[in-house]
Amino acid sequence: MIRTPICDLLDIQHPIALGGMGSASSPAMTAAVSRAGGLGAMGCHYLTPEQVRERTAATRKETNKPFGLNFLLFDTREDSFAAALDLRPAVMQFAWARTDQELKPYFNRAHEAGCKVTYMAGAVKEAVRAAKAGADVIIAQGSEGGGHVGWMGSMPLIPMIVDAVRPVPVLAAGGFADGRGLVAALALGAQGILLGTRFLASVESPLHPNFKQAIVESDGHDTQLSEIPDIAAGLVWPGAMTRSRRNKFIERWAGREWALRQDRVAAIAKLRAAREAGDIDEGPLSMGQDAGLIHDIPSAGELVTRIARQANEILTQTLPNLVASSRFVPGT
Ligand SMILES: Cc1cc2nc3c(=O)[nH]c(=O)nc-3n(C[C@H](O)[C@H](O)[C@H](O)COP(=O)(O)O)c2cc1C
Repeated sequence: MIRTPICDLLDIQHPIALGGMGSASSPAMTAAVSRAGGLGAMGCHYLTPEQVRERTAATRKETNKPFGLNFLLFDTREDSFAAALDLRPAVMQFAWARTDQELKPYFNRAHEAGCKVTYMAGAVKEAVRAAKAGADVIIAQGSEGGGHVGWMGSMPLIPMIVDAVRPVPVLAAGGFADGRGLVAALALGAQGILLGTRFLASVESPLHPNFKQAIVESDGHDTQLSEIPDIAAGLVWPGAMTRSRRNKFIERWAGREWALRQDRVAAIAKLRAAREAGDIDEGPLSMGQDAGLIHDIPSAGELVTRIARQANEILTQTLPNLVASSRFVPGT
């Protein structure tokens, strides 16, 4: 099976990680990924200190393997972050700081609590800033991914970040959904992958079944980058748009964001009701272009095993055969 140095660094069996995904995280999904030998993570954004403690305890009840707690730095609740540090998770998974925010104080506090620090960056400059501030792992996230993403595609961004932050190890994110993606990430110089959308369509995912099914039915061409979900939520996200499923809600407000700002309170109430009801036309569904690679809803643990196995087969059988059978002779 594939092992990269990051497996030793994070004490995991497979170089496959789950992205912390705010309200789309759950203890069951986090634990399932970690139990299978990947690195689970739980989004702690918007959680109260009590909820951080409860969900971490629920995860630890299901697994004694390492997992991460995820915080969005531009909007971190100090009391919830302090509660998370007290719990001493194996990994503190950070993302999305404003450029005027100092990263070092957060990273130092996490290190003092015995955590490894990962930082997700969608741009080279941001990755270098995090590496200099002491991050143990950089997550290079391309704009194919689901949720909040930057402007660069994974294919150029990942090797650029790998080169810029060396020797700090990199996990690739944004558009990865299977073993082919893991092998591609390794070829680009990353030491593994971090996935969001693929795990949303899993048994343990907390999404409404209709939303999981919408991911399975997506051909990957039905996503759109916009600020519409953030405007509805009243959030000013630094340096990102949201990639989500293009549905009636998005189409209604596209090009009319000014009007959405005016109608925000009514819009967010409708949005929340639609999410609860599993209404895929009116509810927001953050998902990446890799939705087009997702055709089933297995357990999260099975996904980790499947991705690792497929990548192993490609590396040990398909690619070596390709090299051995090459008959090309230059100039003939
Ligand atoms: C529904 C959803 C919510 C997300 N929320 C967060 C979050 O709170 N914190 C974070 O660091 N990343 C978040 N992400 C981004 C993921 O960590 C990851 O970078 C992304 O999903 C990778 O692309 P993929 O969806 O193609 O796998 C979210 C992604 C999705 C799909």
